[in-house]
Amino acid sequence: MSIILISGDQVKKVLSAKEAVDVVEQVYKDHGLDKVVMPAKINLNMGINGEWPHFFGSANSMPAYVDSLKAMGVKFASGYTKNPEKGLPFIHATIILTEPETGCPIAVVDGTYITAIRTGAATAVAVKYLARKDSAVVGIIGAGLQGRMHILALNEVIDIKEIRVADIREEAAVKCAKEMNELLGLNVRAVKSNKEAVDDSDIVITATIADEPLVMKEWLKKGALVVSVGSYQELDEQIPLTCDKLVVDSWAQNAHRGELLKLVKDGRISEKDIYSELGYIASGKKAGRENADELICACLIGMGSLDIGTAKFVYNKLKDTEGVVKFDLI
Ligand SMILES: NC(=O)c1ccc[n+]([C@@H]2O[C@H](COP(=O)([O-])OP(=O)(O)OC[C@H]3O[C@@H](n4cnc5c(N)ncnc54)[C@H](O)[C@@H]3O)[C@@H](O)[C@H]2O)c1
Repeated sequence: MSIILISGDQVKKVLSAKEAVDVVEQVYKDHGLDKVVMPAKINLNMGINGEWPHFFGSANSMPAYVDSLKAMGVKFASGYTKNPEKGLPFIHATIILTEPETGCPIAVVDGTYITAIRTGAATAVAVKYLARKDSAVVGIIGAGLQGRMHILALNEVIDIKEIRVADIREEAAVKCAKEMNELLGLNVRAVKSNKEAVDDSDIVITATIADEPLVMKEWLKKGALVVSVGSYQELDEQIPLTCDKLVVDSWAQNAHRGELLKLVKDGRISEKDIYSELGYIASGKKAGRENADELICACLIGMGSLDIGTAKFVYNKLKDTEGVVKFDLI
């Protein structure tokens, strides 16, 4: 029995942003049709807040099966807050794919790029169903890897007039804007404050490692879509508490981690306050945006199904190609 090994570079070569958005949308549709098996993530706390064992990190085990893609596997993903100081990415991830019919392993895939692009793609799917159709101005807070991936993916679903990027490190915003302008020929501008990024933006995205409100409700324009993908709180609590529609990728996962965690713990948000999971909207079971004035907030904490579906798509593209590395297990 042999498996193939797929590197991050190989993934980047064969997976376009457009394909990532399409695969992720398909996975959401499967969710909406109840065609996904996905238990809640298991978290391994390696001392994310400095507690024992003091490594300032944590790791998630994220198994899933997506029926329409016949994709089964698990992602093991770690986030270490001190990595950027060491010149290492905050997130590392590895995916193991198995045959759904037999459970036999078929591939080990670098999951770091897949994690990055599928997260931008998930927001792009949210934008497709929840943003105003004429959305053209985007404010992004967080000019790291996710900020970049969001620009790549959004470029596939809307006609972008302007993107404003803010970061607590001004130089990071400037670098991100320069790189993305060069890569895509878009109008990406670094701005000096979060408010400047948000003012008059049709779509507001937060993708930072902060755990504090970065976007205030009174800054948002009528009809805005706010998407939070960071792993902790990034929004003024009034946004999820009082928006017209609160959408999540998975309620079970949002109840344990991310933007809504504090509100859930304090008993101020529960499942009944969620308008819908995004999958039910993508599959047509529930309406997305219904008018131009709705303020919609989407909290997308991330789901293993998106990684496994995307990895299987990449595997199918590469499995019979020349030069793919095979590894005999037995
Ligand atoms: N929802 C998902 O599916 C998913 C997937 C991957 C990553 N994430 C999360 O997305 C977030 C960003 O990940 P990344 O890989 O881009 O990290 P990164 O380290 O590459 O970038 C984070 C950026 O946020 C900036 N930042 C930190 N604090 C800030 C603040 N208070 N105000 C403004 N900017 C601030 C940093 O300067 C940095 O540029 C993390 O919380 C990560 O866990 C979520």
